[in-house]
Amino acid sequence: MSGASREIAYLRVEHEESEDESLLVAPIGATLRDVLLANGVSPYTAITDRLNCGGRGLCATCGVRFTGNKPVESATAEAEEDGSEDSHVPRPEHWHDELAARFGFPRLSCQTEVEEDMDVRIPEKIVWGSRRPDEGD
Ligand code: FES
Repeated sequence: MSGASREIAYLRVEHEESEDESLLVAPIGATLRDVLLANGVSPYTAITDRLNCGGRGLCATCGVRFTGNKPVESATAEAEEDGSEDSHVPRPEHWHDELAARFGFPRLSCQTEVEEDMDVRIPEKIVWGSRRPDEGD
């Protein structure tokens, strides 16, 4: 692979509740929450759509799951080796998102930068936001 940098990434987004699926195109470097909202795909519930922290990493209502199976370093290295374009699980950069990742809770879409193609699942949420850790599904 040439190693040329990409300017866009493809996001496959599935809604656990409605079972809808969307394919979105996002500029590299965009915030996942912003990309979702700009495309009419809300990570929030009806209530938290209005009552959220505005992307400051405080309320944890913008949670999503990443269903890719490779951390970003691994996906990038393998893609360079074999030319494949795997979706990846972004590395947490924000303290709150790091805790979510460590304990298996949904990741904060407002604290996730689009760096590569991603498979994203918006979990079914109860009023405020999903608080259940990943049950290995
Ligand atoms: S919008 Fe509040 S934590 Fe993401």
